[in-house]
Amino acid sequence: MINADRLWRNIETLSTFTDPANPWTRRAFTPLHQQGRRWLEEQMELAGLVVSMDGAGNLIGRRNGRKPNLHPLVTGSHTDTVNAGGRFDGILGVLAGIEVAHSLNEHELELDHPLEVIDFMSEEPSDYGISCVGSRAMAGKLDAVMLSSPDHTGETLAQGLSRIGAQPSTIASAKRANKSTAAYLELHIEQGPVLEQKDLPIGVVTHIVGGRRIAVTILGTAGHSGTTPMPLRSDALVAASLLVAGAYRQATRLNGSEHYVVATVGRLLVEPNMANAIPGKVDLVLEVRSDSNSVLDSFPEDLLSVIAADIEPLDVQISMKELTRSDVTNCSSELIQVIDAVASELGYGTMHLPSGAGHDGVYISQTGPIGMIFVPCLNGRSHCPEEWAALEAVQAGTQVLLHSLLKLDRTLSQP
Ligand code: GLV
Ligand code: MN
Ligand code: MN
Repeated sequence: MINADRLWRNIETLSTFTDPANPWTRRAFTPLHQQGRRWLEEQMELAGLVVSMDGAGNLIGRRNGRKPNLHPLVTGSHTDTVNAGGRFDGILGVLAGIEVAHSLNEHELELDHPLEVIDFMSEEPSDYGISCVGSRAMAGKLDAVMLSSPDHTGETLAQGLSRIGAQPSTIASAKRANKSTAAYLELHIEQGPVLEQKDLPIGVVTHIVGGRRIAVTILGTAGHSGTTPMPLRSDALVAASLLVAGAYRQATRLNGSEHYVVATVGRLLVEPNMANAIPGKVDLVLEVRSDSNSVLDSFPEDLLSVIAADIEPLDVQISMKELTRSDVTNCSSELIQVIDAVASELGYGTMHLPSGAGHDGVYISQTGPIGMIFVPCLNGRSHCPEEWAALEAVQAGTQVLLHSLLKLDRTLSQP
């Protein structure tokens, strides 16, 4: 019932809003992201949605329902990308939501509930170190400390939001109350290899793992690389390398049948970063994700104690500051059942699986029940230029999204 060709064209078009030197990059808060959003706004309007932006920079396309007192059915995702990220992470969910609105219009289907298609602001870690900026604000979790967090130029997140036309002074009004969302349903590529390996078109997400991001600063002593004898060095990068390897070993040891545990240092800044200077300072971000809140609680501190003896001779100072934390988020069993039923009616094979990736649903779950539909992506690759999903996968996921929303509209509007 959806128009897969139109959806595919929209995916192609939005993905061309990329830094040409670094495909496929559309970082939040950049002019490119804003250009992409202007195009997106037009697409929302063409689909009959009334567009607004809240104080946290969420772009919201709304379609009224027959019963205006009902809370909205919400769908969407994000149009920002990681550096050299892909052409599907995020934009699929937003453009599929717009395609749902087109389909409803073309089939003259009125919903009881209002429908909102949201492009959440900066789901990926922004240059201010904060991810899920928009959905956090909707949950009332974008606090003053986060808003004052600076990027490398010293601009704060609040200033960045003002620059892109949001009004951070009105951020409190972006907050949505508990139970103010009838249901939130997001379509996303799996970003892993499981569905492809099992040759299944639809994944029904059971829960989203929790995560912590910790900013770690290691202070050593910069000096001349040719003249400072080895025993007299305090090399911050050598200490960082012990921490990186230790995190890798610790996550590998903890991960298993009982718990899912992954840890990554994906961002690292070295000063002075010269071939002939001893690194005096390293800033890095340690990220750990798990389906166990107790693993999240203890991982960074355990790591520091395990590597302490090896690091001690380097005479560096290590400080840690938590940037973000999210606990494990469960998808609603009612939404899981609806997605299961719809996929089976449409003849698609399914499996239940957790999401190792974070999503805006983590925060939107504080406003109502959430569900997520996954579709396979090529070789399970994501957050890299090779990220790819087939038209058939995109089509199947969007059909399931449309029909799940239709079913939820019927079941949730019963008194
Ligand atoms: C989002 O893509 C995340 O899981 O970091
Ligand atoms: Mn992502
Ligand atoms: Mn995403």
